[in-house]
Amino acid sequence: MTQKLRTQVGIVGSGPAGLLLAHLLQRAGIDSIVIDPRTREDIEGTVKAGILESPAVEVLVETGVSTRERVEPMKHDGVEFHFDGQAHRFDFPKLTGKSVYLFPQHEVLKDQIAARIRDGVSPLFGYTAEKVVDGPNGPMIVGKNDTGEAFEIEADFVVGADGSASITREYVTGSKTSGFFREYPFGWYGILVEAPPSSEELIYSRSDDGFVLISTRDEHIQRMYFQCDPNMDVNSVSDEQIWDKLQAGVTSELKRGNIFRKDVLKFRSYVHNSLRKNRVLLAGDAAHTVPPTGAKGLNLAVSDVLWANRALREFYRTGSEHLLDSYQEDAYKRIWKAAHYSYMMTTMLHLAPEASEFDKQRQIAELYMYTQSEAGQKFIAEGYVGWEYGADDWR
Ligand code: PHB
Repeated sequence: MTQKLRTQVGIVGSGPAGLLLAHLLQRAGIDSIVIDPRTREDIEGTVKAGILESPAVEVLVETGVSTRERVEPMKHDGVEFHFDGQAHRFDFPKLTGKSVYLFPQHEVLKDQIAARIRDGVSPLFGYTAEKVVDGPNGPMIVGKNDTGEAFEIEADFVVGADGSASITREYVTGSKTSGFFREYPFGWYGILVEAPPSSEELIYSRSDDGFVLISTRDEHIQRMYFQCDPNMDVNSVSDEQIWDKLQAGVTSELKRGNIFRKDVLKFRSYVHNSLRKNRVLLAGDAAHTVPPTGAKGLNLAVSDVLWANRALREFYRTGSEHLLDSYQEDAYKRIWKAAHYSYMMTTMLHLAPEASEFDKQRQIAELYMYTQSEAGQKFIAEGYVGWEYGADDWR
């Protein structure tokens, strides 16, 4: 027997975008159902990165998802760039009046899922969406539920917040892959290590050995990356070689410890060419992917969701579709800024395999231009703390 459900907004994907949208819609009295193929434990247990801009944190705190006490210790007032043997600090409050929060995505998700359950509307875990189709009364999500039976969710709207492997995208763009993209000839080798922090602030480093990033998870666990071949075998380097690679990038002594996770991350830039068709919208990584160097991914998901929330609220309040009609144009402005910023940070700090001496010298000069002038520092800091969201009627 097919399980049949009906809601106002069907949301594919229980990631940060889908859960935030469900939460904001509920506050406006709009029902939704969030589905995800994974279990709650899987979602909360997958350790991920995450820098959140202050306005994104405000949304989570002021709408009752996270508490001020929880987020305050995660505040970061700056980052360092290391290059040419020197360290340069970007002082965010001084340059922009704002800060960022190192609030890893899996921690954001724990708060979001707890808030959904507290508010009486748990996501449906173990529900695998297979496709989005036109039903007799609006779009429908069809797939298999947690007992392996078929399900159909009929809705006024469907939002695909189902990540870079989105199945909703096929309905919207006509293909899984259509859009604008750029690949990079490098990736990141990432480790999680049991050690105290090596630096109070994140270090982004460029050297002739490539890029290094020193980040943190908490007082006991650190996250570090070095630039690698995207096809590299994760087991092809020893711990000693990993430490040498990381240490080569930074001017201060790294605190070593037991490396308990290693992974190779491939990355690319992708912006899909259509974010809406009929009553189906895309948000978050289903709509775009950015390389992690600019720390923009999670924030872009928040931005899309604020635009989608605004358009859906307007529709249910007045029946007008005009904000739905401008959803793509509205969301695209920040998406493309973030696409540029992430591309710029990536190309400025990594060493292309074919880089010539000219390219290397030019790259160092570029870094000096952004660090030696206040205008340059402001430009980097403004992008890092993030641009205005625009759709601010989420309260
Ligand atoms: C991380 O902590 O994993 C991290 C931080 C900043 C980035 C990317 C990843 O830009």
